[in-house]
Amino acid sequence: MNLFAKKSIADLTGEAADKEGGLTRALGPVDLVALGVGAIIGAGIFVLTGSAAAQYAGPAIILSFVIAAVGCAFAGLCYAEFASLIPIAGSAYTYGYATLGEIFAWIIGWDLILEYAFGAATVAVGWSGYVQSFLQDFGIFIPPSLSASPGTELVFYNHRWLRLENAKATLAKANVDVHSLQHATASFDLVAVLAVLIITTILVVGIKESARLNSTIVMIKLSVVVIFLGLGISALARQSWAPLAQNWHPFLPKNTGEFGHYGWSGVLRGAGVIFFAYIGFDAVSTAAQEAKAPQKDMPIGILGSLALCTVLYILVAGVLTGLVPYTSLNVPDPVAVGVDATGVTWGRILVKIGAVAGLGSVMLVMLLAQSRVFFSMANDGLLWSWAGKIHPKFRTPYLSSIAVGIFVAIFAGLIPIGILGELVSIGTLLAFVIVCAGVWMLRRRHPDLARPFKTPWVPFVPIMGILIAGAMMAALPWETWVRLAIWLAIGMVIYFLYGKNHSRVQRGESAS
Ligand code: ALA
Repeated sequence: MNLFAKKSIADLTGEAADKEGGLTRALGPVDLVALGVGAIIGAGIFVLTGSAAAQYAGPAIILSFVIAAVGCAFAGLCYAEFASLIPIAGSAYTYGYATLGEIFAWIIGWDLILEYAFGAATVAVGWSGYVQSFLQDFGIFIPPSLSASPGTELVFYNHRWLRLENAKATLAKANVDVHSLQHATASFDLVAVLAVLIITTILVVGIKESARLNSTIVMIKLSVVVIFLGLGISALARQSWAPLAQNWHPFLPKNTGEFGHYGWSGVLRGAGVIFFAYIGFDAVSTAAQEAKAPQKDMPIGILGSLALCTVLYILVAGVLTGLVPYTSLNVPDPVAVGVDATGVTWGRILVKIGAVAGLGSVMLVMLLAQSRVFFSMANDGLLWSWAGKIHPKFRTPYLSSIAVGIFVAIFAGLIPIGILGELVSIGTLLAFVIVCAGVWMLRRRHPDLARPFKTPWVPFVPIMGILIAGAMMAALPWETWVRLAIWLAIGMVIYFLYGKNHSRVQRGESAS
């Protein structure tokens, strides 16, 4: 028994070769960039930008976006090398198997559940919030007990059910006594559960259908972002940039004396928070076995989607903080508040449509990625073989998609968004650290492999990737570290009870 057994690159290349009845190679470079954008633009830009600007960085949130983008770019360059060298559906899990050995591969695979499955659950909860606010605009109410995670306090005010936590500031401003309002306590988030189940059904039906739906949604959300920028910039230009000059003064509000509250430390904390907005570019690498020309197109998909979103995010942050004072952005729908300031009345509805569609595609790509990672782990014998079964007609790993869908629906229905979001960040950052380390290690161990895409400046780029991701992990609360440790411990138990004994590599079999 060798816990550090590795898969050879030759084996992996063999596995990537097309097999009768395997996954379909349907995705070209544009689909892959769309897949990345589909996973990236979501709750981060539509929800978190406002609170991060208001609480931590002010207009200098623009710099937070730049810092987080630089960290992601280092990791993205490392992902691109691996994804073109080992174009297998398992992403970081497979890269770990090739470089660090089986036990690490298992840890990464188990860790990726935190990114993809918990990521999908986090966004489902955000989506539920937006959809319910949209429905309430039309007088449609979900029973409050089924509208949020267990224990969430709700109050009825102004013809709407609001989360008490979010509504406190508004109620205080309007001088309303909270006790005079009708109260309810939620026990389950039904809308989030339904969202996950619907998207799982689409994923089971086919990769082409999923990619087509994703491309349509990506067009909608990109158009909404571009229209927002157009409306914002023309409104600012019409007023000779006066609001911008006023709202950007001071650009970097003075630190309050507490770490992370404005000033440079606030910019850093802002970067840690809005890092969530960039998560998703790495999900492109899990579609490697469904790409027509993965060697060439994987780097385009990963780096192209990251670059496009970086430019859009920086522009949105600049326009948003230029249109309204940052102090008024601590709301669940900051982009809608920004568009209101342009005086365009239909803007608010448009932004909500963009957010609802946008968050939908983030869930789609995350769930897709999670089922592909399970598929790879099952093929290697580390998970039960049913998870690697491909549907005879739809040609998708349907059983792993369904199992993932059921678990994610349960997480989304029961766990609060704050806990989910922080677990996603720590899990993703850990995967980044391991991928960066893996690229560096494989360069030293196998310098002569033909790499279709080479990460530039190794080891500088991987080291910077490790340092920046490590620093962002260190900034997360200790409770999140404890949850990560518990999660990894559960994974170890499963590995020693099942994976180790069924591993194909341990038995000297090739998975192909
Ligand atoms: N980047 C994704 C989002 O912001 C996870 O929703």
